[in-house]
Amino acid sequence: MNSNFSRTLVTTALPYANGPVHLGHLAGVYLPADIYVRFKRMKGENIIHVGGSDEHGVPITITADREGITPRDVVDRYHRQNMDAFERCGISFDYYGRTSSKVHFDTAQEFFRDINGKGIFVKKKESHFFDPETKRFLSDRYVTGTCPVCNYPEANGDQCEACGTHLSPRELINPKSKLSDESPELRETLHWYFPLGRFQDRLENYVDSHVGDWRANVLNYTGTWLKQGLNDRAITRDLHWGIPVPVEGDEAKGKVLYVWFDAVLGYISFTREWAEKQGAPDLWREYWQSSDCRIVNFIGKDNVVFHTLMFPAILMAWNEGRTSGIYSLADNVPASEFMNFEGRKFSKSRNYAVYLGEFLDKFPADTLRYSIAMNYPENKDSDFSWFDFQNRTNGELADTLGNFIKRSVDFTNAKFEGEIPYECTEEDWAAPGIDWTASFEKLDQAYEQFHFREAAALTMQIARSANRFLTESEPWKVLKTDRQAAARAVALSVNLCYTLALAWYPVIPHTSNRIYAMLGFEESLDDAIKNGTVSWNMARFPQLHKGHKLCRKSEILFAKIEDGDIAPELEKIERLLEEVKRKEEEEANEETEVRPEISFDDFLKVDLRVATVIACEKVKKTDKLLKLRLKVGSESRQVLAGIAQSYSPDSIIGKNVILVANLAERKIRGELSQGMILAVEGNDGMLNLVEVSGSGVNGKNVQ
Ligand code: MF3
Ligand code: ZN
Repeated sequence: MNSNFSRTLVTTALPYANGPVHLGHLAGVYLPADIYVRFKRMKGENIIHVGGSDEHGVPITITADREGITPRDVVDRYHRQNMDAFERCGISFDYYGRTSSKVHFDTAQEFFRDINGKGIFVKKKESHFFDPETKRFLSDRYVTGTCPVCNYPEANGDQCEACGTHLSPRELINPKSKLSDESPELRETLHWYFPLGRFQDRLENYVDSHVGDWRANVLNYTGTWLKQGLNDRAITRDLHWGIPVPVEGDEAKGKVLYVWFDAVLGYISFTREWAEKQGAPDLWREYWQSSDCRIVNFIGKDNVVFHTLMFPAILMAWNEGRTSGIYSLADNVPASEFMNFEGRKFSKSRNYAVYLGEFLDKFPADTLRYSIAMNYPENKDSDFSWFDFQNRTNGELADTLGNFIKRSVDFTNAKFEGEIPYECTEEDWAAPGIDWTASFEKLDQAYEQFHFREAAALTMQIARSANRFLTESEPWKVLKTDRQAAARAVALSVNLCYTLALAWYPVIPHTSNRIYAMLGFEESLDDAIKNGTVSWNMARFPQLHKGHKLCRKSEILFAKIEDGDIAPELEKIERLLEEVKRKEEEEANEETEVRPEISFDDFLKVDLRVATVIACEKVKKTDKLLKLRLKVGSESRQVLAGIAQSYSPDSIIGKNVILVANLAERKIRGELSQGMILAVEGNDGMLNLVEVSGSGVNGKNVQ
């Protein structure tokens, strides 16, 4: 890693303008990025944070169809909503753009034209489903049908919701168009593919050069793709919503760029727009086309390969054959795990979520920012719960931090006319028992290495030490006998308030601004940081000298959260959970509803056999499918089963399972499946294989 960068560009994954952002998004991407950026700004570094709305993609057109409005209406609504929620939360973007902008269309098309002109793309004719009623090609999500793996009748063309298998629409049994309910027909259509494989070596080198500084999850996801070998990826779609494929003639008519191809380029477009707004239209190049700039992409774990493979490969393709105007690749891609909510995954489709805007209607941004920072899902999934939120707000923010600040300021105002009565020496500064050098070294490292939970916890340690110092030095008592000692305690406490205002700024900036104002500064802390009056290192030493005047007012920084305040939220969760459970049960009941009667002879037609798993591997490019080699008596069979999320390949070797042995063969994801094995889904969504114990059972009939 080159540590001599003189600039940093931070980007955050562009949220789809197809719904409100929820706390999971905040925790994984936007808050960590904002904390990092605020820290760096305080350090006086040149850093910008660029983000915006991802306004393309099929789900947006589905929302529009469902609501009877245009896709434009959909993205206008959510762009505004999300930008507003981020602003209220204090996510301090330098620029928040949208991928429907002219600059972005130009940028994306320029990239396409350039790479196309170099002959890098591969064109393929293929057959796609076409709805003769509406005369539209159907993207994967617009086709529904029966899942070939689990027989769920309403599987989507890209994935079966019931068993999770990734599908292509042509694998569905009885496919239907969601637009008209008619059976679609296959029609030939032309598409452009990006040959990721062509960049395999260069991508491997890129990723290898970051072993050691990238997170394990990022290296793992990327490594799995690289190991399997990279394939061509379609980057155009037959759709009306998106950026038109910039190719003359009929060839590209009615086609748009695939949403991921354009979205990642949004980072570049938005930096351009930012530069224009600065009145320096070329300034963006200093961030994208300079080896002096460090690029950091904050994302969630579901976006990893788009940022570590797809986006870099697009930039490599652009850079090919160039001697100037060369784009740099990201130096780091900190991907978060997921933050769950009361023990369950956030789910937009199940409406199981707390939306950021709604939350901020009820509770202050900083209480949320703090709770989430303390639950940052850095290496593993974490959980947000209302009780945790209440406890942290009351116990840590209100009782520790808020209480210390208020006591210090109030006492100074009451007994010393709001004036610092004593000049702190270096020796005094050690009195609160804080090892300043060590604490700040640790803090700096935690921020630099994206350990934001640790950074917040360390800062709370300083607040605790400060609070303890004030309690133990008891200036209100000492004052009567030793005014000088009380003055010293007060001067130290108020200086600690100053330190805390600065040290907390990355995590809870609104609070920091309020503390700073109480300390008697007229300029806001935001402004003081912007113009360099205040910087991070000032937090380490006493800054308020004898005679400095406070503003003589104090406020309660954090209102306690009463049980009554979160009671409606807990009730709401219960309702949501009931709703989710009801849906799940409904789905389960659909299955337990006994199927139509069959005769005994019919039953005997099903040949159930005990089979032993002798080998097993994951099916490439699927999340759910395992390929099993089974021994059944003297025979050997290959069977595909959608159980990869419940069993690792190694863990099922040797198991005796039950095979439907005379089921017609079929192909799933291009692989032959000769039969089916029996499994039961538990309430947790995990599949449990039906196993047979006992010896000498292999090949026997189940009866
Ligand atoms: N919209 C995508 C999502 O929400 C993220 C796009 S990130 C970008 O998953 F890099 F492509 F912009
Ligand atoms: Zn299925």
